[in-house]
Amino acid sequence: MIVAVADNGVIGAGNKIPWKCSSDMKYFRKATMGKPVIMGRKTFESLGKPLVGRKNIVISQNPDFEAQGVFRVTSIDRALGLALSSLKKEGGDEVMVIGGGAIYVQMLQNSLVCRIYKTQIHMEPQGDTHFWPDEELHRLGFVEVSREYREAGPKDEADMSFIVLEK
Ligand SMILES: NC(=O)c1ccc[n+]([C@@H]2O[C@H](COP(=O)([O-])OP(=O)(O)OC[C@H]3O[C@@H](n4cnc5c(N)ncnc54)[C@H](OP(=O)(O)O)[C@@H]3O)[C@@H](O)[C@H]2O)c1
Repeated sequence: MIVAVADNGVIGAGNKIPWKCSSDMKYFRKATMGKPVIMGRKTFESLGKPLVGRKNIVISQNPDFEAQGVFRVTSIDRALGLALSSLKKEGGDEVMVIGGGAIYVQMLQNSLVCRIYKTQIHMEPQGDTHFWPDEELHRLGFVEVSREYREAGPKDEADMSFIVLEK
């Protein structure tokens, strides 16, 4: 799972990410490149187009949903099945769950995640979509295995910490 979370837990506002941090976008690109990425339909619509160099798997219950360059599946299980079979065929060792809020929650609730790449964005924006607090992640057995603090560069709206949690 990969997620960028503000200090107040916000991850989204009005189906957008409420900050611009180029350093985190670069981190996201590097961490996900070449891997199958699983996302909810709203996150896909927020992106507007498939992520290049990655197998895009979009979860939607709507049978009419279709978009070029993505695979639509109707459930989380089907998304994981497709992603894992792609790893078997094409190699690779990691499937990335890239959001949004509804997909993160279900993945965590069903214990389908073993590593979380979490960028803590050091600001407190308003928003309507939140991520689980650290205490909940710890309760599920996640422990922090690395953390790197980065001061905001010229194209970042905030300082950030790149954290990896595993269980
Ligand atoms: N900060 C970050 O790292 C980050 C990352 C990604 C997204 N975001 C933000 O998160 C927000 C979007 O999150 P969200 O929670 O509103 O939406 P979402 O999780 O992206 O997508 C929700 C949609 O996924 C489908 N879905 C969810 N669970 C399903 C299931 N079990 N079976 C079948 N389909 C299922 C449904 O699509 P249908 O309605 O089509 O059936 C549902 O409406 C945006 O603000 C976005 O910018 C932030």
